Amino acid sequence: MSPDPRPIPVVSGTEPGAGHYAEFIAHPANFMMRAWRECGELAEFDLGGARNILMVGPDAHEAVFRAPDDQLSAAEPYKYMVPVFGEGIQYGAPLPIERQQVKFLSNSLRPDKMKGYAQVIAHEVEAFVADWGDEGEKDFYDEFKELVLRTSTHCLMGQEFRTRLSDEFGTLFHDLEQAISPQAMVDAHSESEVFARRDKARARLQDLLMQAVGERRREGGEHPDMLDVFMNAHYADGSALADELIPGMVVWIMFAGFHTSSNTASWTAVEVARHPELMAPVVQEIDAVHRPGTDLSFAGLRELPALDGFVGEVLRLHPPLVTLQRAVLRDFPYKGHVFEPGVVLNMSPYVSHRVPSSFPEPERFDPGRPAPANVFAAIPFGGGRRKCVGNAFALLQVKSIFCALLARYELEPVDPPDSYVDVMPSLILRPSEPCRLRYRRRA
Ligand code: HEM
Repeated sequence: MSPDPRPIPVVSGTEPGAGHYAEFIAHPANFMMRAWRECGELAEFDLGGARNILMVGPDAHEAVFRAPDDQLSAAEPYKYMVPVFGEGIQYGAPLPIERQQVKFLSNSLRPDKMKGYAQVIAHEVEAFVADWGDEGEKDFYDEFKELVLRTSTHCLMGQEFRTRLSDEFGTLFHDLEQAISPQAMVDAHSESEVFARRDKARARLQDLLMQAVGERRREGGEHPDMLDVFMNAHYADGSALADELIPGMVVWIMFAGFHTSSNTASWTAVEVARHPELMAPVVQEIDAVHRPGTDLSFAGLRELPALDGFVGEVLRLHPPLVTLQRAVLRDFPYKGHVFEPGVVLNMSPYVSHRVPSSFPEPERFDPGRPAPANVFAAIPFGGGRRKCVGNAFALLQVKSIFCALLARYELEPVDPPDSYVDVMPSLILRPSEPCRLRYRRRA
């Protein structure tokens, strides 16, 4: 263990034994904002005895994303996901296997598959809003959770599964999700009712998904969904991905993509409602490529730069993943410091996206702001080898939703605009509830 030659400022307010755990657990994004404001680019904090460093800004991101896996490990800090995905999957598998499994996921999201998903999503979204009438009020957090569950299960497991099982799937998934909390980061196996429910839900999902795999194996044929890709996946040595691991792949991809996408959609709706003055270019370009009641093509969705800018700004200010962690396995030098094995490094999109040198007037919602000069400044989807493999799919979903919605409706807040704030009851950031918005058919 090498001593750090220069001290890093420690965030104030530690408690004996627990360090900053209580404040962190209450709202990780707010805690890290305070840490940055108080200490600057590097801030040290303590989560129940584990030494953590917050590293803010593009230089830090670049250094961390470029480090090899045997120096900075993603598996160590995220091992609380193993009971959720299962042994043998992702961080429950050795690194070379995990890397190949990520490839299976990205194969299921190839551009040729995306065209089919775009159609599925467009149908689902059109059907979802078809009976909304001329005006009304809805909780857009609940609505988009339901909608993205439908679109995701449909693209992932096909029409049959989506109609038959998405309700139960949603409930089981909710039980898994409740167990992803700051508490799990400290001990994911402690005696707790939440973790017991997680294990029960995971076992039921294993059964349900194995049944679906079994039916497909018996019936044969090709299917245009992600399950089909997993059922035909082979490792580099020619061996097949075992059927017993397929449920874990499904849970993994759902976990990575479901709430991240639905929360982004909810925050987009809130920002649309709060910023009518910014909507003209977005609506004009949607009207140029889309008529309500028709399915928007994959090509059409790609021609929406103003909507892209709008969603990009939502992801800057409300990135669903507020901290990306790596554990140091080998001494990691950075700007005159040396972080020793055991230290956990935290990169926070939430904090780094508010650094004025990268994003002038950072709290202003400005979809037209130029992209920062440094490509490592904006990291809603991470970066480097572990960059999100589902970013194009996520944007496809969110853009499809807003094409269908904004082609028909205008939105406005029901509650005072400033009352919609970022909350973190789990590790994924989302808008506060109630997330009520009023919609009215466009003139
Ligand atoms: C707005 C939606 C999304 C956001 C903000 C998001 C964000 C991220 C981030 C920040 C990472 C990197 C984590 C790290 O470095 O520690 C990541 C990784 C990943 N994401 Fe996403 N994601 C989104 C949607 C999706 C979707 C829809 C899928 C799949 C369909 C997906 C699949 C993955 C996978 C498999 C990884 C791990 C990649 C690896 O380890 O190499 N994500 N995501």
